[in-house]
Amino acid sequence: MKHFLKETDFKPHEVAEVFALARDLKQKRGQQMLSVLQLQTWALIFSKSSTRTRVSFEVGIHELGGNPLFLNKNDIQLGRGESVEDTAKVLSRFVHGLIVRTYDHAEVERLAAAGTIPVINALTDFLHPCQIYTDAFTLAERWAPKGGDLFASLKGRKIAFLGDTACNMANSWILGAALFGMKISLSGPKGFEPGPEIDALLKQEGFAKNYHFTTDPLEAAKDADVVYTDVWVSMGKEEETKQRIIQMSPYAVTGKVFAAAKPDAWFMHCLPAHPGEEVSQEVLDNPRAIIFDQAENRLHVQKAIMATLVRQSRA
Ligand code: CP
Ligand code: NVA
Repeated sequence: MKHFLKETDFKPHEVAEVFALARDLKQKRGQQMLSVLQLQTWALIFSKSSTRTRVSFEVGIHELGGNPLFLNKNDIQLGRGESVEDTAKVLSRFVHGLIVRTYDHAEVERLAAAGTIPVINALTDFLHPCQIYTDAFTLAERWAPKGGDLFASLKGRKIAFLGDTACNMANSWILGAALFGMKISLSGPKGFEPGPEIDALLKQEGFAKNYHFTTDPLEAAKDADVVYTDVWVSMGKEEETKQRIIQMSPYAVTGKVFAAAKPDAWFMHCLPAHPGEEVSQEVLDNPRAIIFDQAENRLHVQKAIMATLVRQSRA
């Protein structure tokens, strides 16, 4: 059974195919139906809030001919202590795929191991691979020649990631950069350096340590093709809010920081944003901020991921 739990679950040539399919689905949206999920139901099990991920998956499943079934973790017995394994086995008898947003990354791995249907990671405390594929696609739409190879256009580009450099988005961009052949510099406070888990995963996936960490945000942003940030307080870290805002305030993406990147650099944020915290309103209003294109592309890229998983699981 094929799953999508981390960026490297697709090989580079498969990522190139996912991106090409996403471009095709985007162009033909509303005109031509790809009905790969016909007569299927896909369940979304969410333990955390979501706007973009939930809506883009529900709409995407519907547009592929399937039926989305949203399950808040606390509304099912999983929230009352039924085991992850039994949940996977039971749901595998009813539905054709699982999309899971949770805290502990091991939970998505256990669901995948125990069930008999594809599992997609819709964000854990460790990784957010659907977002990284979408972000890379959104950049490639701008960098690739018209109709050209989207995946190849990423190679050699530099991303600067500022703020909470130990969060799921930072980890996922480190792994994504290795997969796409991009350079990555991260800048955040001392104590928020990328951790041993992402180093171990890079090694497990056959990559050398590929990232540069600095406490100087201007050094990280210098010559970057894209400047990226995320909230300073990820879901589950709310108790640390006051301390994090103090520690991370030097790492806000301001006009000055964005100006240190290349003159044609893009600004990205997975959203939700907190203007005046991790990013200034001035940067959010810059025409080179492409945050809503990122949000829209979640739909097209995730449709391509689901279609690819279904095809590969049948093969
Ligand atoms: N970027 C993202 O995953 O947004 P949601 O939390 O709204 O799903
Ligand atoms: N790092 C954020 C991403 C939200 C899409 C969080 O985990 O809350």
